[in-house]
Amino acid sequence: MDYAVETFELTRTFGNFTAVNKLTIQIHPGEIYGFLGPNGSGKSTTIRMLCGILEPTSGSGKVLGYDLAREAEEIKSRIGYMSQKFSLYDDLTVQENLLFYAGLYSVPYRQRNMRINEMIEMANLSGRERELVVNLSLGWKQRLALGCAILAKPAILFLDEPTSGISPTSRKMFFNTIQRLANEGTTVMVTTHFMDEAERCSNIAFISEGNLIANDTPDNLRKYILAGVMVEVVDENPMDKLQDLEGLPYVKECSVHGSLLHVLLQGEEYIPQLQGQTSGVVRRITPSLEDVFIALSSQRKGGKTNE
Ligand SMILES: Nc1ncnc2c1ncn2[C@@H]1O[C@H](COP(=O)(O)OP(=O)(O)OP(=O)(O)O)[C@@H](O)[C@H]1O
Ligand SMILES: [Mg+2]
Repeated sequence: MDYAVETFELTRTFGNFTAVNKLTIQIHPGEIYGFLGPNGSGKSTTIRMLCGILEPTSGSGKVLGYDLAREAEEIKSRIGYMSQKFSLYDDLTVQENLLFYAGLYSVPYRQRNMRINEMIEMANLSGRERELVVNLSLGWKQRLALGCAILAKPAILFLDEPTSGISPTSRKMFFNTIQRLANEGTTVMVTTHFMDEAERCSNIAFISEGNLIANDTPDNLRKYILAGVMVEVVDENPMDKLQDLEGLPYVKECSVHGSLLHVLLQGEEYIPQLQGQTSGVVRRITPSLEDVFIALSSQRKGGKTNE
């Protein structure tokens, strides 16, 4: 098996609305594949198709070598999936949720207790085995949901915004766990809106309105995706300055970061002209992933940012 996931023109429509449009991607075994895009761009729809729970309208795909259309059951039994709204049972305890998933994923009886204990330890839930899930904080729920998803040691893990709504420290710890799983050979496809997490992926695919519009390593995206030159401008009133700069013909993108503005120019030759527009310092920078995504999101709409 060359790829853990391979799709060809995978498409899903709802009525006459196309949520995912001819998506062709490949994911290598053992990689952390970041799947990014604005709200409503088709990330969850894609993941649900790859998990075998939503039928594609057209196109094809394989997960772990099994065909999405014909072998969905094979796929479902071999993957781990953490949905955007974790599928935990509020009125069951931590232990009972894990037992339920052990049954669902057919973890062999002899291994169940051992695996459940390992997951409780991984999720830092020791001492809370008998607590009802409804009483857990979001961070704990999220780690328990991950425990349920990896209980049966799946070869591939689909995580749909696993870290939204939890603290930065919990997010970091969570991603460390993901990294460890990947190092041990698990393939991970993860959606996120956090750039620090995207940064830790080996590959990032970016979709917008159902279309794949960029797909590369974080480094390459920063280096090559933006046609133009990125500069940083210090200004006392960045919000006012933003409006001025956006109107300039050689400014392709402009966004505010605290007291700084990031400005994408059509070319290096415009740096002196931009300098003339501000009393602050203009400095050339390597675009951040955030810059790349802001630009990618607005390019699709065919306009400048914040319009
Ligand atoms: N069952 C459905 N019926 C009709 N439309 C749907 C259905 N599921 C998703 N959509 C639409 O498809 C589009 C893509 O939705 P999807 O949930 O895949 O986006 P997303 O990228 O996961 O967004 P978010 O970042 O908000 O989670 C949206 O416009 C959504 O309203
Ligand atoms: Mg989603």
